[in-house]
Amino acid sequence: PTERTLVLVKPDAVRRGLLGEILGRFERKGLVVEALVLRTMDAAMADQHYADHVDKDFYPPLKDFMTSGPLAALVLSGDTVIDVVRAMIGATDGRKAAAGTIRGDLALSNRENLVHASDSPESAKRELSLWFPELSL
Ligand code: CMP
Repeated sequence: PTERTLVLVKPDAVRRGLLGEILGRFERKGLVVEALVLRTMDAAMADQHYADHVDKDFYPPLKDFMTSGPLAALVLSGDTVIDVVRAMIGATDGRKAAAGTIRGDLALSNRENLVHASDSPESAKRELSLWFPELSL
């Protein structure tokens, strides 16, 4: 069934000039870009977006990284898009992500891993309403 998911093309990707490459992969797959905005996250937004991670050891440097410059937030739609996008981005750690995935091909870090995507229908709903409150879901 057609679903929507929330994707963040992170500040490392924008800095490295990989926004077009990453958007192109999603487009070539046949997914539809329904909304797209460039935005620099502030601390409060980072805490909300990563509510599940705020108490973890890796969170302070993650927050610094995610607020370090503009990122692209996008709404993608398509058949089972949540799982499809998770498969396309690959494992969290770019050093371990499979070749052929975005992280596997383009990232070499566990933190600066280019892309975030919702991992379940529940997180998609939460993250979409956080980033695109004007979009009716
Ligand atoms: P993301 O999919 O955005 O979800 C949480 C983010 O935290 C993850 O991508 C990485 O950027 C980061 N992350 C997760 N685990 C670690 C870790 N062990 N060390 C550093 N960063 C991490």
